[in-house]
Amino acid sequence: MTMNICVIGTGYVGLVSGTCFSDIGNNVTCVDLDERKIKMLEDGEIPIYEPGLKELVAKNVQAGRLSFTTDLAKGMKDAEVVFIAVGTPPKENGEADLTYIKSVANSIGEHLEKYVVVVTKSTVPVGTGKMIKDIIKSKSAVEFDVASNPEFLREGSAIYDTQNMDRAVIGVESKRAGDLLTKLHEPFNTEVVLTNIETAEMIKYASNAFLATKISFINEIANICEQVDADVTEVAKGMGLDPRIGEKFLQAGIGYGGSCFPKDTRAIIQIAEQANYDFKIVKSVEDVNNAQRLRLVDKLAKALGSLKGKHIGVFGLAFKPNTDDMRDAPSIDIIKEIRNQGATVLAYDPVASENAKTMIDQLQVSEDLYGTVKDADAVLILTEWDEVKGLDLTKVKEMMRGHVIVDGRNVFDLDTVKQLGFYYDSIGRRVVNNN
Ligand code: UGA
Repeated sequence: MTMNICVIGTGYVGLVSGTCFSDIGNNVTCVDLDERKIKMLEDGEIPIYEPGLKELVAKNVQAGRLSFTTDLAKGMKDAEVVFIAVGTPPKENGEADLTYIKSVANSIGEHLEKYVVVVTKSTVPVGTGKMIKDIIKSKSAVEFDVASNPEFLREGSAIYDTQNMDRAVIGVESKRAGDLLTKLHEPFNTEVVLTNIETAEMIKYASNAFLATKISFINEIANICEQVDADVTEVAKGMGLDPRIGEKFLQAGIGYGGSCFPKDTRAIIQIAEQANYDFKIVKSVEDVNNAQRLRLVDKLAKALGSLKGKHIGVFGLAFKPNTDDMRDAPSIDIIKEIRNQGATVLAYDPVASENAKTMIDQLQVSEDLYGTVKDADAVLILTEWDEVKGLDLTKVKEMMRGHVIVDGRNVFDLDTVKQLGFYYDSIGRRVVNNN
């Protein structure tokens, strides 16, 4: 069944899900206030870096199923489902800022002409669905339903995640809306969790908070491993084989970054606080995460004696591979601290350098992978790009002045770096010391 869909907001969530909904045969109009973005999309350009997205957008535009506009009235005309996928950035206190959501709800109310289901895809605090309903109702007498359909895609594999979603969470108040949204998800061949709006909103935060907890948990295990001669990668493997634990999200490193986990953990702490509940676990998860980044700088200082006057080559700036997203990337805090301690930095990232320059003052970047480590006293690994994993370490060593690698992503095999004569410190594994 083909549906007419309007998606408001062309960020990661809106653009990817809108495109994937069109790819399964629906007519999708993506609306954004940002004229520059819409112009780019109309010209076949993609405002974000996401593998495969450009091709998929082009395919569906060509098929006449996907279009872009700044005009909400045009987008909503004939729409049976309207998705809200605008940003909910954190406020100073961690609470989600609902300014964009409220303004979109007002506009929807103003343009409502016939029954639609208004679905929130943005990550919003529990209770937002009801608030959207009240706003629209205050503007229009036309019948409509509200619903919640949180998004679980990951940046860098957003299309795969959407096309192969492991569940569709659909929170509704009416059977009519539930039936429509269940139908819409049928081609994805996925398990549908049909529930009320508040529960759907909570599933999103609980999922992200749990994944963040898993990461901070394994990072703490790693920190203990370092003290007791255990190897965290093997600990994670041994734990992960228990299906109740699962092997995923047990990679120790420099902690989580990005636009979701830092924001959503803070938001769920706020949601709990407003419900008079002290969410102790997630507060600790945050503390561990903040400290984990800086442990890497301590490792570097330990390896070099002091950072003063030293030169460091950095591989990777993005918060994870396959994205140019620098939001809350651990590299920001790490590079700042290295420079505070008196070292200079030259950094390489295949796609995030330009974004990084806007977030790290006077950042020196290299276009040339091996040139990054020329005359470096030490090399720091912050993002596990394939290019970084595939580095020819013999060449790296020839280019460097020193022989120290501090690896925040456990990219290299300990025996290999030992044979090559490196001092190599990673996360939760023994230090290889060829001194
Ligand atoms: C995350 C969730 O994985 C998605 O399900 C969710 O939809 C999304 O947030 C969101 O709420 O929009 P994303 O932020 O794109 O997706 O990235 P992840 O792949 O989850 O990685 C997050 C961070 O955790 C990265 O910094 C990564 O390096 C770190 N991480 C991940 C680890 O340190 N160890 C791991 O084992 C896994």
